[in-house]
Amino acid sequence: MKRDFLRISDLKKEEIYKIFDITKNFKKLKKEKKFTDHLKNLEIALLFYKPSTRTRISFELAIYELGGFPIYLSSQSTQISRGESLKDTAKVISRYVDGIIIRTYSQEELEEFAKYAEIPVINALTDLYHPVQILCDFFTIYEKKKILEDLKITYIGDGNNVCNSLIEGCDLLGIEIRVVCPLEYMPDERVIKNLRNKNVLKISSNPYEFIEDADIIYTDTWVSMGQDNEREKRLKIFQKYQVNEELLKKAKKDFLFMHCLPAHRGEEVTDEVIDGPNSIVYDQAENRLHCQKSLLAFLFSEPGSERKGEEWE
Ligand code: CP
Ligand code: NVA
Repeated sequence: MKRDFLRISDLKKEEIYKIFDITKNFKKLKKEKKFTDHLKNLEIALLFYKPSTRTRISFELAIYELGGFPIYLSSQSTQISRGESLKDTAKVISRYVDGIIIRTYSQEELEEFAKYAEIPVINALTDLYHPVQILCDFFTIYEKKKILEDLKITYIGDGNNVCNSLIEGCDLLGIEIRVVCPLEYMPDERVIKNLRNKNVLKISSNPYEFIEDADIIYTDTWVSMGQDNEREKRLKIFQKYQVNEELLKKAKKDFLFMHCLPAHRGEEVTDEVIDGPNSIVYDQAENRLHCQKSLLAFLFSEPGSERKGEEWE
């Protein structure tokens, strides 16, 4: 049976920890320039409807370093831009390659694509979720803090795709997540409604409320891809949610600042914070590679999945 990764809860908690163990190994191997053949003879397409620096590079490299072959497709350069249906595109791509990584707008369309595709589909960001980002971010937190479950994470800013996946992931792993957003831009209602454990999530619109005891302070852009026409309105509403030194005055000494990047310096975060001693944003970006390698190895060579019986470790 094909195994898709469309949202963070498509993995079980124990699978996530297993992926982290393998990630540590991939990170070590990378330093020694040693690559593996988990994706030997497998071709994986990347179909992107939106721009990308980190996700594209890290996935392309991950596939190459696992012995597979990546094919990058911008939707603009395919017949999708001339209206070819999702169903036909999914069916045809499935005849050529062994897996597909998609960055698009609508989560519903991604799910429809996955329904028609005969190969594993990985979500590389939709308007609703950014699960690979959050999976890799949990690895980075685990690497730095050595634990996950007793931490307190504060997300401040727009209740967007990154925030939705963070909430879903914290629910899955049992981590306390506090979300601070303006009333107009709260996380998606479906995400809140579907929480398994309602107690993991606290919500506020007071930017100072969850700073003092936070182990992690996370923010993201106020204007996500596809929202540029709302830019002016958003910038006004979000002003008091900027992560700056003033906001962080009472933060713990050892809190970690996180941002999925790209950052809009001077908007959601100041240079002092993102370049400061508590910031781990470049470690986050680096770990995208190591952790996505582990995810791919898991999805494509886990015993019982596409490559039955093969060891994925
Ligand atoms: N964080 C992230 O997904 O970055 P890119 O848009 O550059 O891929
Ligand atoms: N929320 C951002 C994340 C970019 C990686 C966006 O969707 O543009």
